[in-house]
This record gives sequence, structure tokens and C-alpha cells, in this order.
Amino acid sequence: MVTVLAVVGTRPELVKMAPVVRALDAAPATEPRLLHTGQHYDDELSSDFFDVLGLPEPARNLEVGSASGAKQTADGLVGIDAEIAAYEPTAVLTLGDTNAVLAATLAGAKRDTLVGHIEAGLRSGDRSMPEEVNRVVADHLSELLFAPTDSAVGNLASEGIESGVTRTGNTIVDACLDHAPVARERSDALARFGLDGDYALATIHRPHNTDDPDRLQAILTALDDAPVPVVLPAHPRTETAVEVLGFEPGRSLRLVEPQGYLDFLALLDGARLAVTDSGGVQEEASVLETPCLTVRPNTERPETVEAGVNELVEPTALGARLTRLATDATARAAMAGRPEIYGDGNAGERIVATLVDRMEERR
Ligand code: UD1
Ligand code: UDP
Repeated sequence: MVTVLAVVGTRPELVKMAPVVRALDAAPATEPRLLHTGQHYDDELSSDFFDVLGLPEPARNLEVGSASGAKQTADGLVGIDAEIAAYEPTAVLTLGDTNAVLAATLAGAKRDTLVGHIEAGLRSGDRSMPEEVNRVVADHLSELLFAPTDSAVGNLASEGIESGVTRTGNTIVDACLDHAPVARERSDALARFGLDGDYALATIHRPHNTDDPDRLQAILTALDDAPVPVVLPAHPRTETAVEVLGFEPGRSLRLVEPQGYLDFLALLDGARLAVTDSGGVQEEASVLETPCLTVRPNTERPETVEAGVNELVEPTALGARLTRLATDATARAAMAGRPEIYGDGNAGERIVATLVDRMEERR
């Protein structure tokens, strides 16, 4: 039996790890054990996601909570190390680029346990973001690299990482394709917010945007001046930053609480366009054919930009671009395709099959 410690810590890891846990459960030779570092702990960022995604209760929650990245990583490292020592998993699986990934990678590598990194090979080239540092460390220390796209495979190769690499697609497609039809049927989010399809959905949570008052002011002003209603489910980091800035939306912008996964998918699916700095939302928008404006100077998801369904935009240019896309159906249509970037929705199964093959080779 291949015992797999799947480590999660934040909302996007729950969404993207769920298809992998399901595939581990379904495969005859594997047994998943879920460990939550507890980096996200509010119900609306964590426990509310378990039922809808079909995730089991975590075997352990390290409750690292909110702290500096150093402390989140250090506490995660100590807790995951203890879990590996006690439970002796055959493999540790990490996903993405959070501090949970960094901690789990270091813990597994130090214990000489096989570590597999899901969503390997993404690079923005911007090491001022903690996520980029986490990605680089995770990719260089993991033995199995599950790269979502050809360009991620290429990034790994350019850093000399060729062994153990498999192109799998991204599990966000699995989650999105599974849940979007349910969301369309069951979610009342549009009705709850009085929306009829003529609106934009926004999420902003990167420190580069929330912690820079000029950037945040420019983003919020552009959203509030939009010619259509804009719904922004606010991450707690953003909620606090907006309060500190003292910005009071008065026209188009409506700040709401973080949404459950089905409601969020329904809102993203129904929107004319998305404005975001999230990684996962850039990907989901491409699956749901919602044109996306990404308020960042760079992205580790360049494929969406190259395919023409996502654009990088600076806060000062956001208003003009948003207005154009919201009011010009032709401009919108030019960005609304569904490129096959992230795979066919079977990434979870592919990852587990690769893991099982590798374990058999090792025996
Ligand atoms: C983290 C990840 C980021 C990911 C994001 C997903 C790292 C380096 N960052 O950023 O890559 O995109 O999660 O949403 O791992 N807070 C709450 N309740 C919670 C959790 C956080 O109120 O349950 C507040 C706290 O004030 C905290 C702040 O949000 O200080 C930031 O949380 P943190 O987990 O440190 O970083 P994120 O911005 O969520
Ligand atoms: N999401 C959600 N409710 C929200 C905002 C986001 O369910 O109010 C989901 C979204 O569908 C996606 C994931 O959270 O699957 C993205 O997480 P986030 O933007 O927090 O992190 P990132 O992807 O940037 O790391």
C-alpha cells in the first residue's frame, strides 16, 4: 500500500488537492492522509470547502495560523516533520506555492521521503513574491514533478530539472469541470447580489496590491467607476487593507465576504469579465471562458496571456480596459475562447497513476 501524506494549508490548495485525494481514495494501491497546516483557518477560507469538495477531515491540523512567512514555514516544518516521523508515509504530496508547500518539501526531503510537487514548473521570474521562492525550492527538492503545461516542463528543463517530470494538466480543471454544472444549478449567488449577468467579478489579495496604498486606491477607484456592477469577495487581507485606506465604495463596487466554492464558480461563470490577482482565478476564468484582467506586472501563468484570454494590466490602466471590455461585446468576444491550456480534467488520476508507477519502480 502506498501511503500518501497530502499537505494543504490555504483555500486554493483545498480546491486543487481535492481531485488528487479523490483519485488516491479510488486507486486500490493508495491511501491518502490529509494534513492541514492551518495557515487558513476561518470557516469561509477553509472548513466551508471540505463538504463541497468531498475532502475528508484532515488527520491533523497544525494550526500555524497567521504570522510571518518565516514562522508559518518554521511551524509547518516542525509539525510535518513530526507527522512524517510518526506516520512514515511512502510519499508526501504538495501543491502550488504557499508556505505549506515550502514547509512540507523541506520536511519530506530532510527525512528522505519521496516528495511530489503538484503544479511544478510555474515561474513568474519575480523573486520579490514569496510564492516564487517557494516554487523554486519545491521544484529543486522534489523527486516527482507534476507540471501542468508544456511551458512548466520547459521552465524545469531550463533549470536542469528533467528527471521525474510528468506533464499532467492542472487539477483546477478537474475541480472546475466537476463543480461548475452543480454551481449553475444550485447557487443563488447572482440572485442574492441582484445580478443579471451584466457585471464583473473581482478578487484582489496579493500584498503587492493590498499593501501599497497607491496601487490599492487606483484599483478600487477603477472598480468603483466601472460601467457595470463589480462584486469583490474580499480576502481578509484585502478587507483590512481597504479599512486602513478608508476607501468607501459608492458607485459600482460592492465588497462582499469570501464566497463558498460553488457560489464563487457561479459568479465567475456568469460574469462579463474577471479582474483578479489570484493564480487560481486566472486559470478558472480560462476554463469558464470569462475574459480576465490580471492586475499584476507579471504572471506565472503566461499561457493564458499568450492564448489571448487573460491580460496583465497595471492599476492606472485598469479603468480604461475594464470599461472597454464591459461595454464592447467584440472586444470581449476576442478574449472569450476556451484554450486547452490546463488539460482535460483528469489531472488528479494522472498524478496518482504516475505516483503509483514510480513507487512500483522503486520497489
Ligand atoms: C496565502 C498564500 C498565497 C495564496 C493565498 C490564497 C503564502 C506565502 N501565501 O496568502 O500564495 O494566494 O494564501 O488565498 O503562503 N487571515 C484571516 N483568516 C484566515 C487566514 C488569513 O483573517 O483564515 C488574514 C490574516 O490577517 C493574515 C492575512 O489574512 O495575516 C494573510 O494570510 P496569509 O495566510 O498569511 O497569506 P494570504 O494572503 O492568505
Ligand atoms: N475562491 C472561492 N471563493 C472566493 C474566492 C476564491 O471559492 O471568494 C476560490 C477560487 O474558485 C479558486 C481559489 O479560491 O479555486 C483561488 O484561491 P485564491 O485566489 O485565494 O489563491 P491563489 O489561487 O491566488 O493562490
